[in-house]
Amino acid sequence: MSGTEENNFQEKSFSKKLISWHKLHGRHNLPWQANTNPYEIWISEIMLQQTQVSTVLQYYEKFIKKYPTIKDLSSSRLENVLELWSGLGYYRRAEYIFKTSQIIKEKHNYIFPETYEELIQLPGVGKSTAGAILSLAYNKKFPILDGNVKRVIKRYFAIRGDQNNEKNLWEISEYLLPKKNNNIYTQSIMDLGSKICMKNNPLCEKCPIKLKCKSFELGLTNVIPEKIEKIKRKNKKLFFFLIQHPNDKNLILMKKNDNKGLWANLWSLPLFEKEKNYKEFLKNNQIESKKIIYLNFAHDLTHLKLDIIIYKVDAKMSNKFNNYNWKNIYDIIGVSKPIIKVIKKLKEDINNEKSNVLKIKKRA
Ligand code: ADE
Repeated sequence: MSGTEENNFQEKSFSKKLISWHKLHGRHNLPWQANTNPYEIWISEIMLQQTQVSTVLQYYEKFIKKYPTIKDLSSSRLENVLELWSGLGYYRRAEYIFKTSQIIKEKHNYIFPETYEELIQLPGVGKSTAGAILSLAYNKKFPILDGNVKRVIKRYFAIRGDQNNEKNLWEISEYLLPKKNNNIYTQSIMDLGSKICMKNNPLCEKCPIKLKCKSFELGLTNVIPEKIEKIKRKNKKLFFFLIQHPNDKNLILMKKNDNKGLWANLWSLPLFEKEKNYKEFLKNNQIESKKIIYLNFAHDLTHLKLDIIIYKVDAKMSNKFNNYNWKNIYDIIGVSKPIIKVIKKLKEDINNEKSNVLKIKKRA
């Protein structure tokens, strides 16, 4: 950027306008805004890293209810944290949160750190999350650069081509910071990005900074931010096996994933990537029943486009299933989104079956 005098003026009016807009039009009722507890703000920021506010809300409230303080969290177990994270996705975040709680216990005597240098050392805390914690919890002058903020900055300065790089965007984000009220400012620029300066069809007429917005002036709000070529996800087929205990339909065969790879540390149905592997599993466990397709759906991960096939087979008492456990579908355990889907359908099927039996009995 150039022209410091002009920019100083711009910087002041930018943050000032956002702060006054936020009073009337920003979000004020998000649960993590109720106070400036750094522990609560940290949890919310980690949850919000890859997930929308509307999804985070219920997970956040449950989490804080179960672990109201860093002490409570640090004395729990990863297994229990994963249970609460079940369905939220990006499960590494749950591990980071748990690891961080151990670090804060051991290194910081349960006191949440308040410097950038300490925060950036914590697992799962990058530059933007550190900036969000420092500004929202401690009202310190630190920039953030999440998706919403990037979009606002790119549109406001009509940033394209060579200028469209992280280094430049960080510099601008830092440059725009006000001298005070950094807590309100940070919330206001995120809110502007999500309520006004949306990806598609931004509500420019309602925007408090439209008069100085370069993209608005040049009629480029549909062109900026420039589309970056999306990474092409690899296609992959996964075969899961749904196997109920022969004497108790509520028990299903599961195994806990190890701590690496897809859905690390979560519980899973028997999972196979290749036909020959599941055939071997069926043979070794003497499963003779026909397999039926119970569910088939697509599931997208950051780098993978999964085609998930859930087969159902019948087990007999003589089947041993070494290395697997029978888990009750009504117990709360940490599982991935696809497994939540299977368990949900299974519960519905079991309930429907029960009510059909009742109807038949009544008729008889
Ligand atoms: N996204 C990341 N942090 C957020 C926050 N504090 N409020 C709303 N959306 C967010």
